[in-house]
Amino acid sequence: MHFILYFPNLKAFGLKEKTLEHHYTIITDTQELSDSELNLLKQAWEATATSYSPYSRFAVGAAVLLENGVIITGSNQENASFPVGSCAERVAVHFAKAQYPEEAIIMIAIRAKKADHPIIQPVTPCGACRQLLIEVEHQQKKPIILLLQGESGPVMRIGGVKILLPFYFSGDVLLS
Ligand code: THU
Repeated sequence: MHFILYFPNLKAFGLKEKTLEHHYTIITDTQELSDSELNLLKQAWEATATSYSPYSRFAVGAAVLLENGVIITGSNQENASFPVGSCAERVAVHFAKAQYPEEAIIMIAIRAKKADHPIIQPVTPCGACRQLLIEVEHQQKKPIILLLQGESGPVMRIGGVKILLPFYFSGDVLLS
């Protein structure tokens, strides 16, 4: 697996037009998933049951696999004051980092279900969660593999979060 950095290449600023490529895999046959990936997807699905989402009725579950093999799950937690709520990814990642600050996050599985209609396509993380996951990638210097799936249907596998957020905001500019 290679890690692609979608950050502006300052040396190439002479070029007026540039193209970004996005690498990802769509898996329709579960035999193409490892036992570890299948288990993580299952755990993310089970975590949707703990979602508190009376307003959107959109239940999201996230399962995070740490380098030491521990799996942490989380689900979206809404609030009547909408911005106070938290996405499933943020609940899981922040809890994982609070419990195991030294452990790298290897992979995250995200699943979703809606009360009134089936979600049969992969659900991708929101922009704020992409920024959060990039912070972790940056800190651990290892990509986080994403496994995305709805209630059923194909699984999308993405080799790192930077693929999902080109030109992300990097804390490097704050620290230099
Ligand atoms: N949500 C997540 O948990 N993760 C995402 O990446 C997208 C959105 C939640 C937030 C809110 O509770 C509900 O889904 C509808 O936006």
